[in-house]
Amino acid sequence: MKNTDIKIAPSILSADFAKMGEEVSALKKIGADIVHCDVMDGVFVPNISFGIKMVADIRKHTDLPLDCHLMIVHPEKYVERFAKAGADYITVHYETCLEDTENVLALIKKQGVKCGVVINPDTPAVKIKDIIPLCDMVLIMSVFPGFGGQKFIESTLESVRYVRDIVDKLDKDILIEIDGGINEETAKAARQAGVNVLVAGSAVFSSDDKALTIKKLRGAV
Ligand code: DX5
Ligand code: ZN
Repeated sequence: MKNTDIKIAPSILSADFAKMGEEVSALKKIGADIVHCDVMDGVFVPNISFGIKMVADIRKHTDLPLDCHLMIVHPEKYVERFAKAGADYITVHYETCLEDTENVLALIKKQGVKCGVVINPDTPAVKIKDIIPLCDMVLIMSVFPGFGGQKFIESTLESVRYVRDIVDKLDKDILIEIDGGINEETAKAARQAGVNVLVAGSAVFSSDDKALTIKKLRGAV
């Protein structure tokens, strides 16, 4: 895989919410490829972030794809509204959908939005084996969801390799994304394991030179 194939998706969870318009419009200028929107309900995860209106409002500030990571119970109830708000990708947790995952993915697709499944670090990747071909994106959490700034869980790279193996055998372009604890070092390991979308919250937003950080995460410098 070439470095140019690696996409960087800054997570706006680490942005200043009071300056979100500026923060989001700056992302394209610094070389980001995707805007990662972490939606948390305080039920599935022990934190509350933002919802549909934030996605609709940031839509006005960027033409980059919006990647909405729904950390909410009953995502099927909200898929349509996130789609109308301007999401380009909607990913839902396997843990919140279980045997209904296939139907929720179909619902996302019906809205004309790219769909994806997410697994937590302790969910065996084999659970989504049959779901992977239905996805446009598979997201592997490399921390337990809820907060930015946590330490990367190395063992999740096994799940990345497992998913990469399946994706490579399919005749479909499926993105493999990793989320949590991504810095220069862990980005390299994730790229080597077969990831092509790297979410980075604190690494990008706490950087004094965000453009350079994005290049480093991409492995371009
Ligand atoms: C965690 C979120 C992540 C998080 C990443 O629940 O899904 O997207 O914001 O933040 P960092 O890169 O700081 O681990
Ligand atoms: Zn996320």
